Order: sequence, then structure tokens, then C-alpha cells
Amino acid sequence: MRTIVSLPGDGIGRVVLDETIRVLNAAGFKAEYVEGDIGWEFWKKEGEALPQRTIDLLEKHKIALFGAITSKPKDEAFEELAPEFKEKGLIYASPIVKLRQHFNLDICARPCKSYDGNPLNFIRRAADGSVEEPPVDVVIFRQNTEGLYGGVEWTNPSEQVHDAFMTHPRFVKNFGSTPKEDVSISTRIFTRKATERIVRAAFEHAKNYGYKSVTVAEKPNVIRETSGMMYKMAQQMQAADYPEIELWNTNIDAQMMWLTKNPETYGVIVAGNMFGDIISDGFAGLIGGLGFACSAQMNPETGVAVFEPTHGSAPKYADYDTSIVNPIAMVESACMMLDHIDEKVIAAKIRKAVAKVIKDSKVQTYDMKKVPGKPDVIEKGAASTQQMADAIIAEL
Ligand code: NAI
Ligand code: MG
Repeated sequence: MRTIVSLPGDGIGRVVLDETIRVLNAAGFKAEYVEGDIGWEFWKKEGEALPQRTIDLLEKHKIALFGAITSKPKDEAFEELAPEFKEKGLIYASPIVKLRQHFNLDICARPCKSYDGNPLNFIRRAADGSVEEPPVDVVIFRQNTEGLYGGVEWTNPSEQVHDAFMTHPRFVKNFGSTPKEDVSISTRIFTRKATERIVRAAFEHAKNYGYKSVTVAEKPNVIRETSGMMYKMAQQMQAADYPEIELWNTNIDAQMMWLTKNPETYGVIVAGNMFGDIISDGFAGLIGGLGFACSAQMNPETGVAVFEPTHGSAPKYADYDTSIVNPIAMVESACMMLDHIDEKVIAAKIRKAVAKVIKDSKVQTYDMKKVPGKPDVIEKGAASTQQMADAIIAEL
């Protein structure tokens, strides 16, 4: 039997994960779950949001289902720390970023596929004035460890750093006369290895799941070095290994416009860390938003992979007696896990059950009802988190 590390985290993380495990059990997925500690509580109590014992668990079992965590700004984080750790001057670091870095989970995949009958689906006016609902089926491959989120940044950089920048003629021309105290710099570093891995993952996915195109959504005409490297690599890879797949090149800004004009045109999209983050939220908005947006973070070399909804811990709903949040994003993330560990039949079974529940539109969480999230939504006919899971289980 397989062992899955369950990482509920904070807030609504636990309820969506518990309900998802119920769905997995009902679908016949045989596994044992071991819980790993992660999140705000452990920061407060132990001064570490991702304790070593959790890293060890994942090291051993490799596959994790993750709910969500709470993060707060530096000062607030320090304020809530147990007194004995305050003296040590600990600084809060996001456990998700730490997980990504420790296990080099550099491949992030975020599928955005619309379900028939989801009232949250994007609709558009057709030429004849009628309303059309374009089917969206896009998978975004986001480089997960480098680029603008790589953390190499300065405000008032040291002389040494400033001197290095002064060797670049553009820096001299545009920023050379600004006192260095008035300069903040964030870098966008791409390495060949990580870029190759994300582009390869995108093509492999297109090939394995029958998508006809891979789109590089960057800005190679302006960000020539990093975006340029990714696009050039994609061109070479396509020519050498994937001639049957079309390679498209869009600029990130134009892509954000095209996404509401013709979202049905796109298949697999690949981008660096920040642009991938932005595009995946954009497409998620077309298929129902945070209640539906799932993701995987993987290291193809070691096989370590973490599957999670893209939403956060939604603190304002965390303490409801009856939870009202939509568990589908977490259930979909678990389906990605099943695909990953070659339990594709069970994954397909669960997706079919989810599709049926959505299409029948009898059981809908508050977001699908388009009402503000308040405790009274259940009285008003919205399904609770548990009722949504029950409906999926009933279809199974
Ligand atoms: P959030 O995603 O927790 O919530 C934003 C809003 O989206 C909620 O108020 C709610 O209306 C809605 N929402 C979220 N999940 C939903 C679901 N399953 N069903 C229905 N509606 C849902 O983001 P927010 O409020 O910006 O952040 C709250 C905390 O979560 C912060 O501490 C933040 O740092 C953390 N966070 C953690 C993430 C993670 O664990 N991967 C990702 C994003 C935020
Ligand atoms: Mg995001």
C-alpha cells in the first residue's frame, strides 16, 4: 500500500484535505496517510513553519497532498512568535518556498479545464449577438524556483554589487546618476538547466495528453536574455523532438488579452516563474476561480511531488462551524497526484463524478451560487464543503 504525506496546514487547508481523502477512499484508492506538520502554528510554537521532521517524511514517502498555509508580513510574524524564540531573532520564511527550494520542485503544472454546466465558466458575446461559452482546456507549466521570485534582490546595494551593475552600459545610461541609496534591484535569473526542464515538461505533457500546441508566453522581444533563452530553447526542442506539436510564441501582455478573446485556442503554455503565476491565475478565473484551481509541484529527477489547490487558507472561513468552501480544487489536485503515480483509472473516475455533480447543478458551494461567503449561505441553499464531497462520493 502507498503512503501519502498529508499536509493540512492552516485554516481551510484541513477541511478541504479531509474531505478529499474521503473522496479518494470512496473511489477505491488504497493508501495510508501520514500527517506532516506545516504552517503558522509551527512557526508560532517552534519558530519553524516547516519542521525538519516534515522534510524527512517527504524525503521518505515522496508524495504529498497539501492544503494551504497562512503567511503574514515579517513584523506580524515576529509578534506572534513564542517569547523564547523572539530573542533568537528568527525571521519568518514561507514553508512553501522552502519546500520548493529544498526538494527543487521546479516544475509547476496548473491545469485549467472548464466543467460543463459550471455557472462560473467564462462566457463571451458571439458575432450574432448570442452568448457563447468557449471550452477551456489549458495546462500552464510554470518554472517554479527561479526568475523574479528567485529572491536575489537589494535595496541600497553594496558598493560591490553597484560596481558590478555599473559595468553594464544600460545601467550607466539609465540609472548611473541615481544615488545607490535610492535604487532597489530585483533580478530575473534563468538557468539553462531549469529552463530546459520546464520546457521539456511542457512538450512531454502536450505529447502524452494529446495537446496540439505549446505556447511560450514570455516577452523575448524586450526581455531578450531570459525570455529569449526560453523561446530559443523551445524552438530547438520542438524541431528536434516534437515536430508534431506546434510551437507558438506570445508576449505575456498580449497573452493576457487573448485569454478572454480566444481561450479555447490554447493548449499547453509554458512560462517563467512570475509570468506563469500570472497566466495561471488568469486562466483559473475563466474556469471558476479559486474553488477550482489545482496544481502540482514536482521534481522529475527525484520523483518528489506536492499536490495542492492554488488557494490559500482563507482565514475568514476557517472557523465556521459548517465549512462553506469549495473542496473541488483540492479534489482536482488529488487527481493530478493519482495521474502522477499512475492511478489514472481512479483519477478519471473521480473527475467523472465531479463533472456529473457540476453538470447536475443540484449541489453547489457558495462560490458557484455567486453569493457572498457568509455563514448563512447554507440556509440559502449553498452546499457545505462536506455536502459537496458527499455528492461526489454518491456519484462514485
Ligand atoms: P485565499 O486563497 O486564502 O482566499 C481568498 C478568497 O478566495 C477567500 O476569501 C475566499 O473568498 C476565496 N476562496 C479561497 N479558497 C476557496 C475555496 N476553496 N472555495 C471557495 N472560495 C475560496 O487568499 P488570501 O485571503 O489572500 O490569503 C489568506 C492566507 O492564505 C494568507 O495568509 C496567505 O498568505 C495564504 N496563502 C497561502 C497559499 C498557499 O498555501 N498555497 C496561497 C495563497 C495565499
Ligand atoms: Mg498566484
